[in-house]
Amino acid sequence: MSIKPLDDNLINQIAAGEVVERPASVVKELIENSIDADATIITVNINRGGIDRIEVEDNGQGMEAEDIPLAFQRHATSKISSQEDLFNINTMGFRGEALPSIASVSRIELYSQKADSTGVFARVEGGRFLKQENRPGPVGTRIIVFDLFFNTPARRSFLKSAVTEGNHIYELLRKYALSRPDISFSFSNDKKQFFKTPGNGSLKDAVLCVYGRDFASYLTDVTYVGEGYTIEGLISTPELRRTNRKNQYFFVNHRPVRSVLLYKVIDQAYQGFLLSREQPAIILSIKIPPANVDVNVHPQKNEVRFKDEKSLFRTVYAVLKDVLEQIDYRPLNYLPPESYAPVSREQNYPNRVVSETAISFDFTGQSSLRKDPVQPLGDQRIKKEDYQSAAGGFRIIGQCLNSYILLEMNQALYLVDQHAAHERIMYNQLKEMYSTGKEVTQMLAVPLALELSPQQIGIIEEHNDFFTGLGFELDVIAPDTVLIRATPGGVSGQELELVNELLELWQDNTLPDIQEEAIKTLACKKAIKAGEGLYLQEMERIITELLSSADYKNCPHGRPTIIKMSQADLDRLFKR
Ligand SMILES: Nc1ncnc2c1ncn2[C@@H]1O[C@H](COP(=O)(O)OP(=O)(O)OP(=O)(O)O)[C@@H](O)[C@H]1O
Ligand SMILES: [Mg+2]
Repeated sequence: MSIKPLDDNLINQIAAGEVVERPASVVKELIENSIDADATIITVNINRGGIDRIEVEDNGQGMEAEDIPLAFQRHATSKISSQEDLFNINTMGFRGEALPSIASVSRIELYSQKADSTGVFARVEGGRFLKQENRPGPVGTRIIVFDLFFNTPARRSFLKSAVTEGNHIYELLRKYALSRPDISFSFSNDKKQFFKTPGNGSLKDAVLCVYGRDFASYLTDVTYVGEGYTIEGLISTPELRRTNRKNQYFFVNHRPVRSVLLYKVIDQAYQGFLLSREQPAIILSIKIPPANVDVNVHPQKNEVRFKDEKSLFRTVYAVLKDVLEQIDYRPLNYLPPESYAPVSREQNYPNRVVSETAISFDFTGQSSLRKDPVQPLGDQRIKKEDYQSAAGGFRIIGQCLNSYILLEMNQALYLVDQHAAHERIMYNQLKEMYSTGKEVTQMLAVPLALELSPQQIGIIEEHNDFFTGLGFELDVIAPDTVLIRATPGGVSGQELELVNELLELWQDNTLPDIQEEAIKTLACKKAIKAGEGLYLQEMERIITELLSSADYKNCPHGRPTIIKMSQADLDRLFKR
């Protein structure tokens, strides 16, 4: 085989593989160009999740007629010109790759006009520049991308449903709207407008438009102006608990980035305020001299490298901790030990007779599980107000063997299996979440590749909806490999194991309800494990939530969560 240079169009298509993965990547590149053109209004309209049509219009500087063919040439950019510039980047774009990459795999129409100049219209199809003519219009640029991947059917077939692709774009726009509260962003899918931010510079106003009042009410301001950094944003109070990092945004010099380092800072700062698997909402905008951060480390520019990670870590940690400690917040049910009210459950849990419904420990021998009278739960369930006012209704004695929580309640000793109890809480939450159709997906910073048998790959292909429904995003990238791009929240470190276990469910043809089994498996993965040390506040939260959960006596697999030893049991044991 003789070696030949690739033609330009093919080179662009190969580059497009890196830059353009799906409709959302097109939107990302186009809005970044609008931001770089100093637009103050950016309007995005898509059709069929962006698969059919993506339109991005801005009121930025516009382009000169003679620059337009150049914009579609690879490595042609107006943004940097020297190596020095590359290490001092102030713009979102710098590679001169986006437009040629997008153009090589779609049909593009572009209208652009600079102030005091004639407007231009151009058409590019599959990388071929077809036409350019003068056409007056408003100052700014409007780009319409039709039929993404029309000439690369293999790539097109990898696109997900219009709903999924549209959701990716929606998430992306929310993120950019938060990254630049000084720009008014609006987003419509199939003519339905999802939001429009005012562009008045207020992050809180942008959050209100994008997430609504309820979410915004949990957020509190963060501001720090220091030597090397300015840090601004909003962080949630510990009342807001999410199971994934979806509501955590970091912007470095306005660029949305993912950062394992910053995730770690958050985990540490919220330690003691949230359970280890709960996540806060964070919107942090970090400004740092461009020379101290390298943005050229990822093909999609989603990651950055900081020159001095340690000092950034310390600063962000101190700033968050400072804000959190000032929030007037008591973890649910928390009281310092000396102020515990005398234990009197009848008074505090008037509607619920825990002693009768809990499983009693029988010390006389054989059968340790007593059949309990079944209590209709319905309105007998304690409500939030009940247990909030019931602080001291139980007293945590401590954790034992890093696996069991010991507590005193209603003049009895209770032993709680921390894993089984948390599994019940997680299971109930998941059931509710899936029944209300709420999304629980967590994108992985680095997708994980999993090698599987052809049979397992077949299951994933055939039942992709099942996995997507649970919050996964799986891409079969080779006959024996699947890429895990996103998982349900709260399972980090166990992704591979979880996919394998779910595949086993499909391989077992004796199961009556796979969805149900899947939720059990997921709850088990999300739950705190035996062997994990717990803070007092964590134990209190688990117990409070367990006692207010339906079917709290057993974990979803049927094992007991709570065992009671009454005073009589103990007395008998000690032959009193
Ligand atoms: N909306 C816009 N308004 C004004 N000029 C634009 C717009 N979009 C693109 N351009 C011009 O076209 C050029 C090429 O854009 P393209 O996105 O391909 O490259 P880039 O932004 O320079 O770098 P990157 O590949 O990192 O995005 C830009 O440098 C800019 O001069
Ligand atoms: Mg660009």
